[in-house]
Amino acid sequence: MPAAHLTVDPAYTLAEVDDRLYSSFIEHLGRAVYDGIYCPDHPTADADGFRQDVVDLIRPLHIPLMRYPGGNFVSGYRWEDGVGPKDQRPHRLSRAWRALETNEVGPHEFIRWCGQFGAQVMMAVNLGTRGIDAACNLLEYCNHPGGSQYSDLRIAHGAKEPFGIHTWCLGNEMDGPWQIGHKTADEYGRLALETARAMRTIDPSIELVASGSSYPEMPTFPQWEATVLDHVYEDVDYLSLHQYLGDTTHNLQDYLAKSLTTEHFLHSVISTCDYVAARKRSRKRMMLSFDEWNIWYHSLEKDDEIERDTPWQKAPQLVEDTYTMADAVVFGTMFITLLRHADRVRIACLAQLVNVIAPIMTQPGGGPAWRQTIYWPFLQGSMYGRGTVLQTACTTPRYDSPNFTDVPYLESAAVWNREAGELTVFAVNRSLEEDLPLEVDLRAFTECTLCEHLCLAGGADPNAVNAPAQDLAVPRQRPCEPVRDGRATVALPPLSWNVLRLKVKQ
Ligand code: AHR
Repeated sequence: MPAAHLTVDPAYTLAEVDDRLYSSFIEHLGRAVYDGIYCPDHPTADADGFRQDVVDLIRPLHIPLMRYPGGNFVSGYRWEDGVGPKDQRPHRLSRAWRALETNEVGPHEFIRWCGQFGAQVMMAVNLGTRGIDAACNLLEYCNHPGGSQYSDLRIAHGAKEPFGIHTWCLGNEMDGPWQIGHKTADEYGRLALETARAMRTIDPSIELVASGSSYPEMPTFPQWEATVLDHVYEDVDYLSLHQYLGDTTHNLQDYLAKSLTTEHFLHSVISTCDYVAARKRSRKRMMLSFDEWNIWYHSLEKDDEIERDTPWQKAPQLVEDTYTMADAVVFGTMFITLLRHADRVRIACLAQLVNVIAPIMTQPGGGPAWRQTIYWPFLQGSMYGRGTVLQTACTTPRYDSPNFTDVPYLESAAVWNREAGELTVFAVNRSLEEDLPLEVDLRAFTECTLCEHLCLAGGADPNAVNAPAQDLAVPRQRPCEPVRDGRATVALPPLSWNVLRLKVKQ
């Protein structure tokens, strides 16, 4: 395999990484909330019923923002069901995921839970079955200090201080025919605009996210974005994107190339935003909230059966993908792609966090919590990917696969943390058989040491998975050669996610 070359220079900056790139998402779906984060009978549950072993696995991820309560769930949700005395909360048929919703967890409990690991809540409002009124009442409930019906209700429910929720999603995937209350782009654009304006009269300080397309293959993409933005461009702060990658053609080389579709998706959405700005003669640059991203395909067929054939039940076992080493590597390429668009992507939510397409799993009905393969690239991204994303120059060998051409074997991004004097290079080798030699040109940094090469390598067994008490797939340290003549040289093993950590003398 010919070597790949990367030139990294702190003079060429792309953007400061917004901490909210490391956000996540919990939906009332399957066992995410009940039997996931909330499990009053579990030996580790706290007084509120939240599993502390799960919180212990979340804490190191340093998640700043958690999207809630959906997802498709929000489009049929009545937020009033989830507040007040628990024993008086109604049980509802939650149609989005065919489940019995007991409402034991609602906004109060969820916000308290997020506080256990320092995250804020990004609240979604129901623009499916409901609209302006319910959205404004929820905002008044959460953010108004007191002296009005809904703020006083919050106080009566034990929260004297407002929740101060800053970021709000105007509905979810309203372009999707599966969405309860699905709308045309014009219908949604008008409703989102009027809801945004009404909400801002109650709290002008909030930030708003308009719903973009559910995925790039939607027939209405990107006209949906253009039409919606035509309505809301000056009234929202972010446009959302959602995408899940999967090995749907059972071809690993193809699957490994799929983050190229993420790159293309981002370019198209950014171009559409800028086109609308140009048409409107607007100087505002629309920022993006990639508020659902992950790998999702293992559970799809099984879930169709469960949703079709089983009776209504609490916390059905839905959307539970078990992730392989190959999935972790593809996950890494998607993360790197997000980083390389940090100038426009300000929020990104790993969807989701516990049990549902999740890095963290719990065994049904109790037992331990455990970490899936994708936990590791997310953890390391969050730990080392804060600072300034640099624009790098890269040459790499390439390959063709059945559905992609010129796929780079190397996928990479560099983040410079000037304060700490630390440079991190995230790198993936897409080759299934061969080491990829990588030379990193660091001439612009005076004195540099490669202090760590952390590697999650799946070449030996791409299908390896983790399981409870079986943390086989974890990153390992690789030997580091000294940096010579301003060049660091490493070998990236086949099918691997790598973190190169360099210490720079300043
Ligand atoms: O994250 C799972 C589901 O994927 C969400 O409910 C929906 O928004 C998306 O289609």
